Amino acid sequence: MGSHRHYLVAFACVAFFAIQAAAADPTPDPKAKTFPLQAWMKANTAAAMAAKDPFALANALDELATFAPKEYSHWASIAKDGAAAARANRIDAVKAACRGCHTQYRARYKLEMRDRPVPPPPEN
Ligand code: HEC
Repeated sequence: MGSHRHYLVAFACVAFFAIQAAAADPTPDPKAKTFPLQAWMKANTAAAMAAKDPFALANALDELATFAPKEYSHWASIAKDGAAAARANRIDAVKAACRGCHTQYRARYKLEMRDRPVPPPPEN
């Protein structure tokens, strides 16, 4: 029983210092942090979509195709299909490409390589 209480005290101390450490982190709120591809998306694909600018959409999606991670086998083709749709001024089809990639890869990307630089280093 006595040793049990020691564990509890030790745990409480660890928890306390963990909270202190988190409080000292300048960006304790994960939502306040931005990630390279997320920032790129906002500045490029999302900005072009908001402007309904097919040229900017085509450029952004062509560039995005070159960011394809090795193991994400449909990434480049989804992005290129989106770029082709933008060139044909088919904004709904562009949106389908955005949605298609987000459904297939967004969660996985966030899990596996969210800190990856954009553009990515070669062989990555
Ligand atoms: C080939 C894949 C792919 C395509 C195509 C794509 N995205 Fe994304 N997008 C991602 C990934 C992966 C993330 C997650 C990045 C992160 O949060 O670290 C993301 C994140 C975003 C975000 C950040 C907020 C959020 O939803 O998580 C926006 C905004 C966004 N995309 C807009 C667009 C728009 C608009 C298009 C189409 C014009 C588009 N994307 C096309 C892969 C793609």
